[in-house]
Amino acid sequence: MIRLLSRTLFFLGLANLALAVKREDFKTCAQSSFCQRNRQLAKEAASNSSPYSVIANTLQFQDSVFKADILNQKNNVKFALQVFFLENNAVRIRINEKAAIKPRYDEAKNHVLVKEPILKSPKTLTGKENQGQEFSISYSDGLYTAKIQFSPFKIDFSSEAGPILTVNERGLFNFEHFRTKVEPKEGEAPLEEGLWEESFKGFTDPKKNGPSSISVDVSFHNFAHVYGIPEHASQLSLKTTAGEAHQYDEPYRLYNLDVFEYEVDNPMALYGSIPFMVAHRKGSSAGVFWLNSAEMWVDVAKDNKGSHTHWIAESGLADIFVFLGQEPKSVLKQYGDLTGFTALPPAFSLGYHQCRWNYNDQEDVKGVDAKFDEFDIPYDVIWLDIEHTDGKRYFTWDQNKFTNPIEMQKNLTIKGRKLVNIVDPHIKRDDSYYVYKEATQKGYFVKDPSGNDFDGWCWPGSSSWVDYTLPEACKWWASLFKLDKYAGSTEALYVWNDMNEPSVFNGPEITMQKDRVHHGGWEHRDLHNMYGFLFHRSTADGLVQRLDINRRPFVLSRAFFPGTQRVSAIWTGDNTATWEHLKISSPMLLSISLAGVSFSGADVGGFFGNPEPELLTRWYQAGAFQPFFRGHAHIDSKRREPWLFGEPYTSQIRTAIRNRYHLLPYWYTLFFQNSFDGVSPMR
Ligand code: GLC
Repeated sequence: MIRLLSRTLFFLGLANLALAVKREDFKTCAQSSFCQRNRQLAKEAASNSSPYSVIANTLQFQDSVFKADILNQKNNVKFALQVFFLENNAVRIRINEKAAIKPRYDEAKNHVLVKEPILKSPKTLTGKENQGQEFSISYSDGLYTAKIQFSPFKIDFSSEAGPILTVNERGLFNFEHFRTKVEPKEGEAPLEEGLWEESFKGFTDPKKNGPSSISVDVSFHNFAHVYGIPEHASQLSLKTTAGEAHQYDEPYRLYNLDVFEYEVDNPMALYGSIPFMVAHRKGSSAGVFWLNSAEMWVDVAKDNKGSHTHWIAESGLADIFVFLGQEPKSVLKQYGDLTGFTALPPAFSLGYHQCRWNYNDQEDVKGVDAKFDEFDIPYDVIWLDIEHTDGKRYFTWDQNKFTNPIEMQKNLTIKGRKLVNIVDPHIKRDDSYYVYKEATQKGYFVKDPSGNDFDGWCWPGSSSWVDYTLPEACKWWASLFKLDKYAGSTEALYVWNDMNEPSVFNGPEITMQKDRVHHGGWEHRDLHNMYGFLFHRSTADGLVQRLDINRRPFVLSRAFFPGTQRVSAIWTGDNTATWEHLKISSPMLLSISLAGVSFSGADVGGFFGNPEPELLTRWYQAGAFQPFFRGHAHIDSKRREPWLFGEPYTSQIRTAIRNRYHLLPYWYTLFFQNSFDGVSPMR
């Protein structure tokens, strides 16, 4: 409700009263029981060695795969370990329960990986066991060795030059197996808090599966810096969150969230999540990718031996890829070979985009478009935010304000320009709205635990959300973009997918409850971080399918996940018109680019507030050198189109935008190369 109030205050133009994130709306690690349990374990780890060990007589090494059982000596639960040696130096480590009482979520790989990873030729591998204590596999023609130590279980990766990376060096591997809930009898101690239920700000999360988290530690030997795991408003080299003199008290959190007025220099979660980390030192690069779509937290500690990371996921499997190479680009290539590379953007989308919440009506669009010509400032795309719709029913128009959208688009296309319309994932619950009606009848919405369509609050009021894990629902969603279905749309209309974390104003942490139900009965908990990507992908499929010829789609998304790079662009959401937000935009975009999503940008000018003319000008000068280049502003901010502040600003902004256009062939070439080598244009 507080959130609703602040949104409403903003709407009424009263919100500049206080510009600060409401930290208390979002969990700290201590308020998230699985994070807390595993972090506690890390504190105790120095005194306890890992209880997990490989059962030596179960091991098999065949066809480039090492298999063995792992035993947790504390509770006798067994796990199946598989280590796959893949082409191009990649190694995949999968650990699952050996005899789980029900399956654990393992669907993320079907959406994220571009193909079944190809195994390395067994001829290039040699494996040998050493006295029942360890098994070493030399791979990449002897360049690297993976040594699996049996007790306690750990995997060391090294080259001739020495150790590179170790999985479970500190013994923080912890796998909470599924169990049956046993209520304590009279006189017995109550169940540990947070295992089967957890509350936060009046929301209760009933955990039908009980504890299900997995944690793993990865040490990067002699690497002074580690990078990646976006999205955070922080510097490029990750700060320490644990160990002596750590810089942040909280771990980096990966949980797609709509964080209103986010702060800079902070490890709090933001709109996107990519559990991929990269490290580099002279002659050696390393990458780690955990393919898991549940909420995650990552601690970073450093000492004179290197960087030590601790990853904690709420559910799913341990499905971890290790990439080694001599240069970062080799690591990025390995990651891209598995998850895809950034799709080559349509050329127009690398130009300048003009957006605001909102261009009010057709006349407004015409006027802004004409001013660009009058002031001789190049631009390619004008954007319409949520107010262009009939009551936030996407795929419709406010017919009083946009009386002839086709003509409006024609006027733009005459000059080679495009239009982008917003299409959000919350569907207004209104029986007279065709999108809602069709999705309801076909049973395509995410369900609540009692089997009804989930009902939450977003811009249109009461709304439901399509379940994009259901293949038929994705097909249907894509079909909504057909030119004869989306009334008033033309080929020149492209799309903006916002609020897809998903943002649910009356949900815990402004998102969907974790116990909501998806196709196959899976809980939202298991796939939360992937939801926005699946929605984005279905939208882009719709744009491709609406035409008989092949044309590259353009769809901007706020939420992202590994794989997003194959779809289209993302931006860093609701930043603020301050110098510190301008400053953080570059490291944020570099981190996101390093994690594969190269087509990314930050709102030029800052979304909230009113930039002074110099700040706006400087922002254009920076934005011209960032991959996705769009001016955008909040509905309550003053107009700030490039000509509005007069000279010298108009000329300076014109020059910045023209510089972008001078370099367009270079941008396009870099993006082309990026589309198969993974080296991002922003570097
Ligand atoms: C969200 C978006 C912002 C957009 C607004 C209205 O806050 O991040 O860019 O203008 O919603 O749609």
